[in-house]
Amino acid sequence: MTAATATSDKSISLKATEKRFGAPKASVQALTPTTMDIAGGGMTILLGPSGCGKTTMLRLIAGLETPTSGLIEVGGVNLWSNGKRNSDALSHLGMVFQEANLFPWLTIEENIALPLKLRGVSKAERLGKAQELCRLVGIAGFERRMPRELSGGMRQRASIARALSYDPGILLMDEPFGALDAITRDTMNNELQRIWMETGKTVVLVTHSIGEAVFLADRIVLLSPRPGRVQEIIEVPFPRPRDQSMYREPEFQRIVSYLHGKLDH
Ligand SMILES: Nc1ncnc2c1ncn2[C@@H]1O[C@H](COP(=O)(O)OP(=O)(O)O)[C@@H](O)[C@H]1O
Ligand SMILES: [Mg+2]
Repeated sequence: MTAATATSDKSISLKATEKRFGAPKASVQALTPTTMDIAGGGMTILLGPSGCGKTTMLRLIAGLETPTSGLIEVGGVNLWSNGKRNSDALSHLGMVFQEANLFPWLTIEENIALPLKLRGVSKAERLGKAQELCRLVGIAGFERRMPRELSGGMRQRASIARALSYDPGILLMDEPFGALDAITRDTMNNELQRIWMETGKTVVLVTHSIGEAVFLADRIVLLSPRPGRVQEIIEVPFPRPRDQSMYREPEFQRIVSYLHGKLDH
């Protein structure tokens, strides 16, 4: 589906990117100046305790927050110029939040196709795309249902489909499975891995779960709190596809305890 998207269209660069909130003299530094490249096509996990700046970093990448200083490039394009977001850069990005945030009065396919409607795509084309995406995320047959008729996990599948509707190269996810029970969460992590392997998207996912981070990641960006900064970057080289039997492997447990040691400080 996205084989044609060049890897460079899917890369992200932070260049001395800093974020402060509040009045200049009494501001909170949510992210200290950070320089980091996220290569196209990878699975990058932002990990850290609550309040360390994970959401801030993701929202900066998504163009939902303006950097206080420094810049951000998405697909090689500067996200901001003269205080304005670059719509070209934004078209590379799809976002998934902890809550599915579907419109309750729209069917699943209408929800998924909504970003296409806003972009002026014809009805036939956008419903065709919604159907294709329902198959991709494993909710084929539920196109005409209302959000309330679906389980939490299925609603989150629909919100992933919606984020993919206009075929962005980059999928940004903020604790997307944090509101789901543990078993559904394992399923969704497997599904995300499959979708990612099938589509070749760049995924940047925020979590505070160490196990989830090690299970999913090519690369873990460990953030430390107050002021938020990148403490360490850890490569996670396990082969794919991974499944939950990985939890029992000594190397998996080694990385998990290493991260516990870092986070428990
Ligand atoms: N809109 C905001 N206004 C003021 N402070 C904020 C805002 N958003 C985040 N912060 C502060 O920035 C820090 C990082 O927050 P956040 O990025 O939400 O952390 P995380 O997602 O890791 O829990 C926290 O100290 C938080 O209180
Ligand atoms: Mg957060």
